[in-house]
Amino acid sequence: MQHSEAAYRKGLVDLGDGMISREIFVSEAIYREELERVFARAWLFVGHESQIPNPGDFFVSCMGEESVILCRDRAQAVHVFLNSCRHRGMKVCRYDEGNTTVFTCPYHGWSYASDGRLVGVPYFREAYHSRLDRAQWGLVEVAQVARYKGTVWATWDPAAPSFFDYLGAFRAYLDLSLDSWDGSEGGSEILAGVQKWLIPCNWKFPAENFSGDSYHNISHRSVDLVGIGPSGSGRRDMTERQLARRLQISFPEYGHQTGVYVLPAEEPVPPAYQHSPIVAEYFAHCEAERRQRRGEWGRVIGSPGEIFPNTALHPRQPRTIAVWHPRGAHQTEVWRWYLVDAAAPSEVKAFLRDYYIRYSGPGGLTEQDDMENWNYAHAASRGPIARRYPYNYAQGMGHEIANWEWDGLALPGWVMDLTEAKSSEHNLRNLYRRWAQFMEADDWAALLPDRAARAAE
Ligand code: FES
Ligand SMILES: [Fe+2]
Repeated sequence: MQHSEAAYRKGLVDLGDGMISREIFVSEAIYREELERVFARAWLFVGHESQIPNPGDFFVSCMGEESVILCRDRAQAVHVFLNSCRHRGMKVCRYDEGNTTVFTCPYHGWSYASDGRLVGVPYFREAYHSRLDRAQWGLVEVAQVARYKGTVWATWDPAAPSFFDYLGAFRAYLDLSLDSWDGSEGGSEILAGVQKWLIPCNWKFPAENFSGDSYHNISHRSVDLVGIGPSGSGRRDMTERQLARRLQISFPEYGHQTGVYVLPAEEPVPPAYQHSPIVAEYFAHCEAERRQRRGEWGRVIGSPGEIFPNTALHPRQPRTIAVWHPRGAHQTEVWRWYLVDAAAPSEVKAFLRDYYIRYSGPGGLTEQDDMENWNYAHAASRGPIARRYPYNYAQGMGHEIANWEWDGLALPGWVMDLTEAKSSEHNLRNLYRRWAQFMEADDWAALLPDRAARAAE
C-alpha cells in the first residue's frame, strides 16, 4: 500500500476529530517509510558518556534498526559509527561494551581504529596490489553528534538542525532528568548496565504511553495496593505530589511532550523518602537545595515525557531513560538506562537501584502492567476487521492553555492542567501531529519553519 503525502494528516492522523487509524501501528508499508522519514532524520539518544569514560571505550547502541558503535577515540573525541564493515557488511563489533584499540572484522579481518579509519587490510599488497584507497573505506559515521550533560545524541541527517534547535524550549524539561537532585547542573551517571528486552508491539505504543497517557492509572492499581514505593506505600509515594498541580506540557513545533508537577510557592518542602537516615537526609537536603538554587523553577518536578520520536524520559522516580527501538511493525526492543546523582552516597544508589528494579524494566511491576496493555492492544489491532476502526484520541480537545501561569510561575509550552480535568490526550495528539509532519515533510524547512526563516534573515 502506498500512502500519498497528505494521507498522513488528512486520513491516518485526523486531529480535527481526534482519530488515528490503526494502520500507522500495524502496516508494514508505513513502518518501512517511517524508518526513512523519522529514524534516518531525527535526533536519537545513543548513550551516556559515563559508559565510555576512557580512550578506546565503546558501547554498542542502536539508531532505528541499525546497530551503531558509540566510542571514545585515543584523542578523547566521541564518535558514533555504523556497526557494519565496509567490505561485506559484517558487524565489526559483536560485544555490548568494552575497550579496544581496533575493531577487527571477524569475517575477512579488516580493522578500524577507534576514530573509524580503516587501518588494517589483510593481503593489502598482494591481493589489492596496494591500490585500495583506505581513506575512502573507514567506518560510516553519523552526520552529527551532540553531547549534553553526559548524554550522547546523534542523527544521520546532515541537514538536521543542531540538537539544541531540535529540542527548543523543551531543553529545560530534559534538564529535569539530567541535573542532580539538588538542582545543580548535570552530575548524573548511569547506574550499572542497560536493560534490553523485546516486546511484541509497535514502538509507538510505548512512545505514546510515555508522552503522557494520564488515563491508564487503573492498570497500575495492583502495584499501588502492593505499595512498591520507596517508603512502602503507593507506586512512587512522593508526598509532595499531593500538594502540586499536575500538568501536561507539549511543544507542537517540536513534537516533544512531558508531564510535570508544580509545587505551590509557599508550601514548606515536604519530607522525602524515609527509608533510612542516610537516604532520608540525602533527599531532604537535595529538596531544600533545589528550591534555593533554582528559585521558582525549583518547584517543577518532572514526570514521564518523550523526546520525539522514541526517547522516553522518566525524571523521577524512578529516574530513567528508555529508547523504543523499532524492530519491524510488530516488535520493539526496549533499552532502559537508570540514572543517579554521581555524587550520591553509595547507600542512596543502592536504595534507588532496588526501587528502580521493583518499578521498571522487564521484571518491574509497573512496567509489566504497561507491557500487557501495549502487547495485547497491538495483537488485537492487526486483523483486517480490527484495522477498519480508528482509535479515539479526543480526550480534552480544545482545553489547552497557551500561557499557563500559577502562583508566580509561568511555564513555556502548551499546557493542559489536569488538577481538575484528571486526564487528557493532549500530549498524545502532539506526538502524532509531529509524527505525521515527519512522514509528510521532505525537508527541514517544513519541519522547523521558524528556524528556516531565521537562517534566511
Ligand atoms: S566483511 Fe568485514 S572484512 Fe569482509
Ligand atoms: Fe504506566
